[in-house]
Amino acid sequence: MSYIEFENVTKVYHVGEVDIHALAGVDFAVEKGEVVIVAGASGAGKSTILNILGGMDTPTAGRIVVDGARVDQMNEKQLTDYRRYDIGFVFQFYNLVQNLTALENVELATEICRDPLVPSKVLADVGLQERINNFPSQLSGGEQQRVAIARALAKNPKLLLCDEPTGALDYVTGKQILKVLQEMSRSYGMTVIIITHNLALCPMGDRVFRVKSGKIISAEYNEHPTDIDEIEW
Ligand SMILES: Nc1ncnc2c1ncn2[C@@H]1O[C@H](COP(=O)(O)OP(=O)(O)OP(=O)(O)O)[C@@H](O)[C@H]1O
Ligand SMILES: [Mg+2]
Repeated sequence: MSYIEFENVTKVYHVGEVDIHALAGVDFAVEKGEVVIVAGASGAGKSTILNILGGMDTPTAGRIVVDGARVDQMNEKQLTDYRRYDIGFVFQFYNLVQNLTALENVELATEICRDPLVPSKVLADVGLQERINNFPSQLSGGEQQRVAIARALAKNPKLLLCDEPTGALDYVTGKQILKVLQEMSRSYGMTVIIITHNLALCPMGDRVFRVKSGKIISAEYNEHPTDIDEIEW
């Protein structure tokens, strides 16, 4: 059994009289510690996959396993615990608490965890040792996204889920963020899933899924993923 398994996962949204088939039978498997790139056009179903994997949305049908647990069979209370303890989420727009420092933002997230990492250590790992006492407004976009990554990682989750983590950043800064994600996966053995529109990023993934019209149209395994430094787009 793999660390993550999706089996024939479907999602239908009912909007008025219309059924939107956001996921039309998604199957994939991921092993622990892998970096996974999920690529595809707008509306393909990427965020729906990530939100279902992260317990923020529920499937219409299908089987979802994470580390031996059936996520599709969880009740509300179990889903709350799953989101709280097992999932770290990184979004496009950082979502930091503006009146807390970088360190305090990370500490806040670790307060609700069972076995968190040391916030100052994780902030140092993402390259922010000098900035831990700054407020978000005193940090660049790339630095704020590093805080958001540190906040998600410090929970010591099973999965780090990133929905367009470089979507609001320029080329160089976006590349630095992807490098942090690749390094954190390697140093912590963290399973990291990254959604992107950018097909050029595919070589950085241990695994690459391309999504179209609610289906996975290709699943590749890279024996030797490329360092992000060597990728240009
Ligand atoms: N809560 C919702 N209610 C109704 N329809 C939804 C909902 N969430 C997503 N959809 C629809 O499901 C489809 C897949 O959406 P999804 O957000 O997963 O796409 P995406 O690949 O993440 O796109 P983008 O790259 O633009 O973020 C789209 O047609 C979208 O409009
Ligand atoms: Mg999306």
